[in-house]
Amino acid sequence: MTMRKSFPKDFVWGSATASYQIEGGWDEDGKGESIWDRFSHTPGKVHDGDTGDIANDHYHRWREDVALMKSLGLQAYRFSISWPRILPQGTGHVNQAGLDFYDSLVDRLLERGIKPFVTLYHWDLPQALEDAGGWPNRATAEAFAEYAGIVADRLGDRVKHWITLNEPWVSSVVGYAIGRHAPGRQDFAAAANATHNLLLAHGLAVPILRERSAADAEVGITLSTNLPHPATDSEADKAAARRSDMFSNHWFLHPLLKGGYHPEMTPMLEPLVQSQPEDMEIIKAPLDFMGINYYVHNLIADGTDFPPLNLKMSNRPGVKLTEMGWEVYPPDMRELLTNFHKEYKFKKVYITENGAAFADIYDGGEVVHDPDRVDYLKGYIGAVNDAISDGVPVKGYFVWSFMDNFEWAEGFSKRFGIVYVAYPTQTRVFKDSAIWYKEAIANNGFEL
Ligand code: FCB
Repeated sequence: MTMRKSFPKDFVWGSATASYQIEGGWDEDGKGESIWDRFSHTPGKVHDGDTGDIANDHYHRWREDVALMKSLGLQAYRFSISWPRILPQGTGHVNQAGLDFYDSLVDRLLERGIKPFVTLYHWDLPQALEDAGGWPNRATAEAFAEYAGIVADRLGDRVKHWITLNEPWVSSVVGYAIGRHAPGRQDFAAAANATHNLLLAHGLAVPILRERSAADAEVGITLSTNLPHPATDSEADKAAARRSDMFSNHWFLHPLLKGGYHPEMTPMLEPLVQSQPEDMEIIKAPLDFMGINYYVHNLIADGTDFPPLNLKMSNRPGVKLTEMGWEVYPPDMRELLTNFHKEYKFKKVYITENGAAFADIYDGGEVVHDPDRVDYLKGYIGAVNDAISDGVPVKGYFVWSFMDNFEWAEGFSKRFGIVYVAYPTQTRVFKDSAIWYKEAIANNGFEL
């Protein structure tokens, strides 16, 4: 039996990328070094020694990439701005060539009828700021506010959707506590302060972006989210799942939307975080929308695998996994959105990322076949549709990613795109999923 999933008239169908993952041109036209340049140039940090030096060469091929977006009928494109392209040292000297690049990109997108959703920070901190202490240093938050103002002064007459930060949890925890991402530190106290200063950076930037953009511009933030379920009914596992939920979700949601750290997080954070009395008020700056990135479900048991939380994480037995080892179980998307909305009453939500890596094979033909990704998208976008019927105000969906790209510590080994990239020649080839998505956009829905 088929079932039609139809979307509200104003639903936005988009796709997303990020600067370091696609641009290349890592030291061109005055760009400064980022922590990801430094990290990927350090042997042993990234799979196969891959770097973003060239990546998808989007810095030179952006016109061709926008033409592909247009041919798929994308209504919106979420990309990020490389902070060290604009401020090579993080603060002070402004590199006009960097601003010119994004200025032209925004103009071209608008000419093609594609709405730019601009993320200001998708993990490529200027190395100079890391050298001065990085995100654990409060001054980095102030530098971010300066940077946000400079970008808004240039693009604020045209950009109507701003995302301050992408997944601050990953910046702080994976970058400063686990060390699998740049800058590669392993210090939980540093991560706790990094989180605080990221939130503060966001809060400082929100009013600046509003003041320096058109009156109808919207400002939000994008969070990584996780849906933890207890592995068994035992009290210990339930408590562990709750700790995981606090750590991966509410650590951020609560201060942004309700104000102050969640009471269940404060015992862990208070001894570590250096904050000032006014910070929580700044962090709670009213948001126009919440950006949700959703990829990961875990079964959580009480254990010792994930300090400082005592968690053991596993997958549901028998559930299909993506190449990242992440479960494919679409109802989770609905559950996550309805749970969060119940608690936080979102004004608007955009799914700013969702998607899957599979081992796609290019045989030189016109299309790359990726049936697993088509199924994945049907399932998860279908679940977004269910969440809308439940009353969650989801206003748009951005598939991660528009094209295969540099997947952080995994380098080029994981392909998330709906467009295949043959890196040696930089050829772009549509996958079946791109063609399916094009149809879904054209029909504002699809058959399940
Ligand atoms: C998210 C990141 C994005 C991409 C996807 C797979 O955590 O925001 O850049 O790497 O995961």
